[in-house]
Amino acid sequence: MRLRTPICELFSIDYPILLAGMGGAAGPELAAAVSNAGGLGVLGAAACTPSQLDEWIVRTRSLTDRPFGVDTLLPLSVPRSAQELAPARDRAWSSEQSATGGGAGLRDLVPAEVLEARDRFMDEVELPRRKRRPDGARSKRPSRERVEFVGDFFAAQLDVILDHGVPVYAAGLGVPPADFIEKGRQKGMKFLGVAGQSRHAEKLAAGGVDAIVAQGTDGGGHNSPIGTLALIPQVVDVAGDIPVLGAGGVTDGRGIAAALMLGAQGAWIGTRFLATPEADIPDYQKTELIAARDRDTIVSRSVTGKPARMLRAGWPELYERGELEALPMPLQSVVSTPVLASAQAHERSDVYRGICGQGVGLIDSLIPAGEVVQRLLAETVELLDGIETLDGVECDHSASA
Ligand SMILES: Cc1cc2nc3c(=O)[nH]c(=O)nc-3n(C[C@H](O)[C@H](O)[C@H](O)COP(=O)(O)O)c2cc1C
Repeated sequence: MRLRTPICELFSIDYPILLAGMGGAAGPELAAAVSNAGGLGVLGAAACTPSQLDEWIVRTRSLTDRPFGVDTLLPLSVPRSAQELAPARDRAWSSEQSATGGGAGLRDLVPAEVLEARDRFMDEVELPRRKRRPDGARSKRPSRERVEFVGDFFAAQLDVILDHGVPVYAAGLGVPPADFIEKGRQKGMKFLGVAGQSRHAEKLAAGGVDAIVAQGTDGGGHNSPIGTLALIPQVVDVAGDIPVLGAGGVTDGRGIAAALMLGAQGAWIGTRFLATPEADIPDYQKTELIAARDRDTIVSRSVTGKPARMLRAGWPELYERGELEALPMPLQSVVSTPVLASAQAHERSDVYRGICGQGVGLIDSLIPAGEVVQRLLAETVELLDGIETLDGVECDHSASA
């Protein structure tokens, strides 16, 4: 079977099907399976510490000799470090902590009443919570190895990516820095950026990326206010010569064919690849995905502080009802992480059912990722290989009536 567009040449892949970077879901096994099937597997490395990311890249290379990518976040709105975010009066205290090896963490910047409200919620729903150490001691992990969505953490991830000369880098939020792109190009790297609005696409184009993902509101994860059908052609128009990938609700061959019709050169697909044995999410969430319908998702700031689409459950509904107010990124992750970790460990789908897009209602089985690629390909080719497959459509350019 053949389905090629110019981005296949750009990324040295067989088919214009990309596994979307999905934090907490797309690890080496899933990325390698998609690459081995002829698409481009992309590691969802947003929350990987530098040493974990290093391990992931090495492991991915051991599972595939084909190109793959790494996706991280580069939000402009976050500070370089927890210290920078701390109010001036706390800075002396922060540096005292640094001197003793602990370093001020983001946790110290979250109002105590928010943490108490979170703990009350956990107790009310009987979600086990990890007790704090009685001596109040903090983690001995160096700040570089702490998962905190601050500039220094993101910069340390980029260093690892550059060291490895990873074939493709994708920025899930923000624009890759110019010096990073310049050094990466010397190693043959290619660069992608995700746009949820045409204004983001303009910034990415000016920043020198090789391709732009147009991700509409239907998609799982950080969310755009614009529908996919409206967004893709508008991003195509501002992207000029830069190829665009369609994303957000693209879940089967009909979605890929539609994205191509809208001017995209391929698709960046997340949710469909969650219901695979290779996806690194708990089994209970895979079962939930198969059962879920189109209206079962909610856009909520309850996980990272930025609006993200996920399956409805107790934690995001708490915020929907206004019982808790989300803090901005990077602080909200400090609040949510213990809830999500405990819910996942105890398979509590009433509390948290995971991140996914509105296309979830199209998923009815768990199949290997390589088979997903093959199915997507076959469905797309069947639709595009001859206009007569569009049942009921009559059109003839030369006819007058
Ligand atoms: C479980 C999950 C986690 C995600 N995590 C990230 C992430 O860490 N970084 C990112 O750029 N996008 C993330 N996304 C968004 C995807 O990259 C992609 O844009 C989206 O999944 C496309 O829409 P779809 O889910 O309808 O296919 C995530 C999506 C899902 C479903």
